[in-house]
Amino acid sequence: MSTAATTIRREPELLGQTVVVIGGTSGIGLETARRARAEGAGVILTGRNRERLDQAARELCAEDTAAFDANNPASLQSFFHGLPAPIDHVMVTAGAPHYRPPLEMSPEEARHDLTEHLLLALNVARSAAGKVRPLGSLTFMGGTGARRPRPGLAIISTVSVALPALIASLAIELAPVRVNVIAAGFVDTPLSASLLGGNLDKRRDELRATLPIRRVVTPADVAALAVHIMSNTALTGATYDIDGGQQLVS
Ligand SMILES: NC(=O)c1ccc[n+]([C@@H]2O[C@H](COP(=O)([O-])OP(=O)(O)OC[C@H]3O[C@@H](n4cnc5c(N)ncnc54)[C@H](OP(=O)(O)O)[C@@H]3O)[C@@H](O)[C@H]2O)c1
Repeated sequence: MSTAATTIRREPELLGQTVVVIGGTSGIGLETARRARAEGAGVILTGRNRERLDQAARELCAEDTAAFDANNPASLQSFFHGLPAPIDHVMVTAGAPHYRPPLEMSPEEARHDLTEHLLLALNVARSAAGKVRPLGSLTFMGGTGARRPRPGLAIISTVSVALPALIASLAIELAPVRVNVIAAGFVDTPLSASLLGGNLDKRRDELRATLPIRRVVTPADVAALAVHIMSNTALTGATYDIDGGQQLVS
C-alpha cells in the first residue's frame, strides 16, 4: 500500500477583505495586522502616536491610518463614519489594564477604571455597527489573569468577568455581524515589558518553568487566534482563552 503525502492547498483566509485594527502599532494589534496582511487582507491601523502609526503603515502597506484616542467616543464615531467603504473585521487592542489598589482609589478613579474597557467595547460596537459587512466581526481583548479574586485586582477582576457578558449581548444586538473576545494571560509584548520593567526576564523564566506549554505566549499566537475568529463565520458571542494554561497553574 502506498502512502502518498496529502498537501493542503488553500486560499488566503482573508483574501480581499479589510481589517481595521484599533491599536495596531504595537504588540498583539500590530501582529494581528501583519497576519491579516499575510492572509490577503488590506489593513487600516489606528493608535495615538502618529510616528508609530506611520512606521507600522509603511511596513504593512496599510490602506489608511488614523491617530486618535479610542477612549474618546466622538473620535471613534468620526473615524468609523469617515471610512469610505464597508469593512470586514475590527480588532480592538487599544487600552491597558488598571492595577490600582481598589480601596485607595477615589470614587472617580474607580468609576473610570471600572468602565473604561467596557465602554470602549460598547462605543466601538455602536460606531462600527453600520460599517461592518454581515458575518464580519468585532474582536476585543480581555484577560484570564484576574478571573480569580486576588489582593489588588478587584477592578481588573470585575472587568475581566464582565467583558464576556457584554460581548455575548453585543453578538445578539449586532447580528449578523459577529462579536467575540480573546482572553489572554501573559503575552510577551511591549505592554508587558513596560508593566514588569526589570522583572520581565524573571517572569518569562517563571512562565517557561510552570506553564503547561513550557514557553511564553507571543503576540503571534494571539494573532493566529484573532485571524481564525475573523475567518470562521460560525464563531460569535464567545470568549476564547489563550494563556498557555496559565490559569490552571497560578
Ligand atoms: N500583553 C498582555 O499580556 C495582555 C494580556 C491580556 C490582555 N491584554 C490586552 O490586550 C490589548 C493589547 O495589549 P498589548 O500587550 O498588545 O499592548 P501594546 O503593545 O501596548 O499595544 C497597544 C496598542 O494599542 C494602542 N493604544 C493603546 N491605548 C490606546 C488608546 N487609548 N487609543 C488608541 N490606541 C491605543 C497603542 O498605540 P499608542 O500607544 O500609540 O496609542 C498600541 O498600538 C490591551 O488591551 C491589553 O490590556 C494584554
